[in-house]
Formats: sequence, structure tokens, C-alpha cells
Amino acid sequence: MESTNPVSYTPSKKVIKKSTKKSTKKCDDKTENPEISVKTFGGTTDIREFGRTLSGNIINGDCIEELKKLEDNSIDCVITDPPYFIDKLDHKWSSEEIAADKKNSHIRHLPKGMKFDTSQVKKLYDYYLELARILMCKLKPGGYFLSFSSPRLYHAIAMSCEIAGFEIRDMINWVYTQSMPKGMSVAHIIDRMPDLTQDEKRRLIEEYKDFKTPQIKSCFEPICVAMKPIGRLTFIQNELQYKTGLLDFSQKVGENGDRVPANIITTEEWNEVYDKNFLVAKPTKVEKGETNTHITVKPVALMEHLIRLFSKEGALIVDPFLGSGTTAVACQNTKRRCIGIEINEEYYKISMERVNTIKNKQ
Ligand SMILES: C[S@@+](CC[C@H](N)C(=O)[O-])C[C@H]1O[C@@H](n2cnc3c(N)ncnc32)[C@H](O)[C@@H]1O
Repeated sequence: MESTNPVSYTPSKKVIKKSTKKSTKKCDDKTENPEISVKTFGGTTDIREFGRTLSGNIINGDCIEELKKLEDNSIDCVITDPPYFIDKLDHKWSSEEIAADKKNSHIRHLPKGMKFDTSQVKKLYDYYLELARILMCKLKPGGYFLSFSSPRLYHAIAMSCEIAGFEIRDMINWVYTQSMPKGMSVAHIIDRMPDLTQDEKRRLIEEYKDFKTPQIKSCFEPICVAMKPIGRLTFIQNELQYKTGLLDFSQKVGENGDRVPANIITTEEWNEVYDKNFLVAKPTKVEKGETNTHITVKPVALMEHLIRLFSKEGALIVDPFLGSGTTAVACQNTKRRCIGIEINEEYYKISMERVNTIKNKQ
């Protein structure tokens, strides 16, 4: 179904006014005189033109600024994998700084982002609240705002969406087995304790050999499913007006592709029960692209599944944190229009390359 060509349904003026009154007021506050043009490969373009075609529309810029330029009530769905504000992986995300920073993990060979810092959750909450308030204006009523997150920081994302006015409709867990254990041994700390003799150190190291710092190996990513409220419309009235809100359960999962989607998803073959009920097609080995240097690339099949479930063909999908372009690739494969925003020029170029490769194959 094309969201650009809806079945005509016009609720009474009274109903429309009631259902959009709150968001319109907030939107006016946030969109004062935005500079409409954006930087692209080919020069500058009016961002509002971006959502009108199916081809990859990727902007190299800061999403907070770029999103303000979009028309209110124009987005069907936002699907994004945001920065979690761990270490240097924040709303600036400089790949050079991340690579140059040798101190951002206690142990050098551990991946970036493992340092525990209680200020992360507050920074993420404040930042996400600002973003969610903008998206409350830009999404159509019934439009979904899906955010990947981590078990430790999920509450900041969910709460900021709720406070901005979204309804939290669900949490989907993307489950996987291939992840690094994060708890760290305490042996090297004991070894450096100045008041202990070598014998005492040996004894303590033996006593605590099975104990680790409190980080359980993480085997899932929670996805916050928030929806812009539909006010006084019923779901079917909202659907007929905006083509949003209802979920497309013709999108099936499982190894035989015959099960209804659940709020657990895996992209790995696992065991009989999981594969039968939750499996989304496995990602291919080549799908990242040879030159993709991004450190947190999502599987295309996972993004396609979410896009199919939460939007319709022709819908406008926005990813404010596009990274290496996985959402744009998935939109291209599923015939959705996409606006992707990426602040980092290196990743922006990678995402353009990935989308162009797909387009050339189609
Ligand atoms: C977790 S990654 C997304 C990875 C993506 N899902 C993929 O498959 O490649 C988050 C991305 O957000 C970008 N980013 C961070 N702050 C941003 C901002 N203010 N505006 C736009 N993009 C931003 C980062 O550069 C990073 O590439």
C-alpha cells in the first residue's frame, strides 16, 4: 500500500483538532526559522525534497538541526540505532577521536564503550528527550519511533520518549549468542594492592578466580517501540487518514517464514524452538560492504523486518543516526522512502556507497 495515496477518510474537524492540538503547539516552539537547505554530495538541496523519492536520501549533518527542517506530521516511521553516550560514542561520534583514545577502556584490548559511568544515562536521557520532542512534531499520529538500546540504558530512552509525549507500546528484544563477556577479573587489581604480601595476593587471587566485575554478558538489545498518540481517532480511522499505527502481520518470521512476529527476534540459527518461532533471515557475510569501517553495523535483514512490520510500502522512514547506512539499504530493498542523517563524514560516504551499490544492482 502507498502511504502517499491514502484511501480518503476525513474525520470531523473537531476530532482532528483534538488529536493534534498538543503536538502542534510544541512543534511551533521547536521549528523557528530553520535553514532549509542541507549539505549533500551534489551541493545543497531542500531537505523537504528528500522524502519525495525512493532513492537514498542521505544527509551529512547533525540530526537535531536537520530534523527541524522537515515538515510537521510528515514522517511515517523512525527506526534508529542511536549513540548511547558511552565513552566517546556520543552525539558527536568522532571516529578519529575514538581510534586515538587509548584510555577509554580499563583494558586496552576491550572494545570501546565498556567503561561504566553513571553520568551516561543522564546525558543520554537529556539528549534523547530533545530528539524525541522534535520527532513528536515530525511524525504522523500513529507513527512509530523505534530505538535500539542496551539493557543498561533502555530506561533512559523509554522515559525520554514517554516524557516527550509518545506512548510506549512494546519492547522488542533482538537476541544473539555471539557477544563478548564484559565482566573483568579482579586478579590484576589484587596483584597491585600495596599492603599485601605475595602469599596473601596468591591466596586472594585463587579465592576470587571465579569472581568478576558486575557486567553480565549481554545477549540481547532491547528496542523501544514508541508511538505518537492517535488522540481520539480509532486505529482504523487513524490508518485511513495517515496509513500509520496498525502493524502489518503479513510480515512473518521463523525458519519456514510462517509465524507471526513476536517481541523476540534473532538473526542467528539457534535451536529448534527459537528458529521455528523467532528467526529473521540470517544476515549475509558480504552485506556490510568491503570498505565498511563502522563499529556497530546492524544486520540488513533485521532492519527490513522492522520496517515491514511497522510501515507500509512507499512510507517515509527516517533514521537520524544512519551510521553506515543499514536503514537506507533496508528501505531501498523494501520500497520505502528514506531520509538518513549521519554526522560523521566517513560513515556518510560509506552509507552513500552502500546505497548506490544496491541501486546499481536493482
Ligand atoms: C550506533 S551508530 C549507527 C550504526 C548503524 N545502525 C549501522 O548499521 O551502521 C550511531 C551513529 O550515529 C551517528 N551520530 C552521532 N551523533 C549524531 C548526530 N548528532 N547527528 C547525526 N548522526 C549522529 C554516529 O556517527 C554513528 O555513526
